[in-house]
Amino acid sequence: MSATKTVPRHIAIIMDGNGRWAKQRGLPRIKGHEEGAKAVRECTEGCGELKVDFLTLYAFSAENWRRPKAEVFALMRLLEKFLKEKTPELLEKNVRLQAIGRLTDLPGSAQKQLHRSIEATAKNDGLTLILALSYGGRDEIIDGIKSLLRAVELGHIDKAMIDVEMFSKHLYTRYYPDPDLLIRTSGEMRLSNFLLWQTSYTELYVTPKLWPDFKKKDLAEAVEEFGRRQRRYGGV
Ligand code: IPE
Ligand code: IPE
Ligand code: MG
Repeated sequence: MSATKTVPRHIAIIMDGNGRWAKQRGLPRIKGHEEGAKAVRECTEGCGELKVDFLTLYAFSAENWRRPKAEVFALMRLLEKFLKEKTPELLEKNVRLQAIGRLTDLPGSAQKQLHRSIEATAKNDGLTLILALSYGGRDEIIDGIKSLLRAVELGHIDKAMIDVEMFSKHLYTRYYPDPDLLIRTSGEMRLSNFLLWQTSYTELYVTPKLWPDFKKKDLAEAVEEFGRRQRRYGGV
């Protein structure tokens, strides 16, 4: 992997294009998702090697529940299988697993496996891998507002104290820095309700590559491009 000056501390990825990958090959969509799971492994390993601290993967959106029941069911099964099979590897690679989203929407057995994997990897201090599951950026903001209102009602905070920093502490992402780089595969130029609050100054990178085709060298290319960006945050 070629040397880059600035490595993003936090990379977020909208892993899109599994369905198209399968369609191009005349395969059922779920085959694309299975192949996508392999790209997750590749990318996690790549981020570890690049010394990225946080990797957030958009794995299932709040809106993805609208998909046909069979696809949703297959995705949930795949999530559970992935977690079960990959946890030893996460341990070996010193990866700490975390999750954001309305996790209680997930089927019970997937939730159980998720919490087992999170617990098993809790002491790892290498890459933090955050899975966004049943995640919606607008839901997150609404849940954050409710959490703030509760804190005000309980007298823990005064409403005059509410500012950007405090609100950030009421979001699912309160333990993580904002993403520096957001990658979307398969060419779509939209956020699809991902990390709406957190991406206000994130560098965006869209590649036409479909997610199952996204390899370590594609990740390295995105990181190199990030290294050439000038982040001004509204300054000069
Ligand atoms: C992304 O691939 C994976 C999930 C949303 C779970 P898609 O399933 O959206 O693939 P396309 O966009 O139909 O190609
Ligand atoms: C975004 O992809 C969600 C995930 C990658 C999990 P979608 O395929 O659901 O997004 P849209 O429908 O193209 O906006
Ligand atoms: Mg899609």
